[in-house]
Amino acid sequence: MLPYPPSSPAAAPPQSRSAARTPPRPVALVTGAARRIGRVITLELARHGWDLVLHCRGGAASLADAEATACEARALGAQAQVLGADLAVEADCEGLVPAAVAALGRLDAVVNNASSFEYDSVASFSSQAMDRAWRSNTAPAVLLARALHAHLLARGEDPATGCVVNLLDQKLVNPNPDYFSYTLSKAALAEATVMLAQALAPRVRVCGVSPGVTLVSGTMNEAEFDAAHRLTPLQRSSTPQDIAQAVRFLLESPAITGHTLVVDGGQHLQGQPRDVLFLAQQTMATPAKDS
Ligand SMILES: NC(=O)c1ccc[n+]([C@@H]2O[C@H](COP(=O)([O-])OP(=O)(O)OC[C@H]3O[C@@H](n4cnc5c(N)ncnc54)[C@H](OP(=O)(O)O)[C@@H]3O)[C@@H](O)[C@H]2O)c1
Repeated sequence: MLPYPPSSPAAAPPQSRSAARTPPRPVALVTGAARRIGRVITLELARHGWDLVLHCRGGAASLADAEATACEARALGAQAQVLGADLAVEADCEGLVPAAVAALGRLDAVVNNASSFEYDSVASFSSQAMDRAWRSNTAPAVLLARALHAHLLARGEDPATGCVVNLLDQKLVNPNPDYFSYTLSKAALAEATVMLAQALAPRVRVCGVSPGVTLVSGTMNEAEFDAAHRLTPLQRSSTPQDIAQAVRFLLESPAITGHTLVVDGGQHLQGQPRDVLFLAQQTMATPAKDS
C-alpha cells in the first residue's frame, strides 16, 4: 500500500502567483467504477471538472474495464487512476482512501456505488447471504466515509470539506420481499446515510441516490428489462445518465446533507408486491387490453 499521509500541499514546489490562485480540481473516488452505472458516474464527473480514482474489485477483467473507463475519463481532460480492492475484505477497504490520496494527492468525495445483487427470499435467507450483502453493500460505505473524514481533518485546510453519495434503491420506499438480504443491506445503508451525515458534519456531507430499474440486472433479460422500465408513472424509469447527474448534483450542492434523491420515473409511488422483474414477466404473459 502507498504511504499515508502523502506529502502535504505545503510541501509542494512553490507555484507562481497566478497558479496559486487556481483552485485545485476536486478528486472523487467512485467504487465499482469499471462498468455500468459506476462508469457513467465517473465520466459525468470527468466531464465536469473532477479528477477520478476508479475503484474496481481487481480481477483481470474488472481491471481492464476500469482502465478502459479511466482512458475515457482522461480523454475528457481528467486525471484518472485505477485501484483494485475487494471491499468485503475490511483491511483492503480501509486502504482505499489512503491509496487514492497517494495516487492523486487529495480526495474530496466518495461515491459508494459498488454493490452485490444476489437473489434470496425469506425462504432461502441465511446469515451467510446477509453477511455477504452487508460486507459489500453497507460496511464499506461507512469505512470509506470515515476515512474521507479523517483525510479531510488531516489535510488541515480551513475548512476542508467533502461529500459522500451512497447508491441506494427506490425499493426502500416501495418495499417487497424479493432480494431479501440485498434490500436489508441497502436499508441499513439508508439509515447509515442519515447517521453519517450527523456524525461527520461539518466536514463531510452524506447523501443518497435511489435508482429505479436502470440496467438489466440479476436474471432479467432485455425484454423483461424493457417491460420493467415502462412500469412507472412516467412510463420510463431511470437511465445511468439520470443517476450520474443526480450524484453530481449532490456532490456539488454544499447545503444538502442527510438527504436521498429518488430517481426512478416515479416507480416508488406504486405499490409493487414483488420485484419489478416478476411484475414485468406477468405483464408480458398477459395480453394488453384495449384502453
Ligand atoms: N442497475 C439497476 O437497475 C439498479 C437499481 C437500483 C439500484 N441500483 C444501485 O446502483 C448501484 C450501481 O448499480 P449497477 O447495477 O451498475 O451495479 P452492479 O453492476 O451490480 O455492481 C457494480 C460493481 O460493484 C462491484 N462489487 C460488488 N461487490 C464488490 C466487492 N465486494 N468488492 C469490490 N467490488 C464489488 C462489482 O464488481 P465485479 O464486476 O468485479 O463483481 C460491480 O462491477 C448499485 O449500488 C445498485 O445497488 C442499481
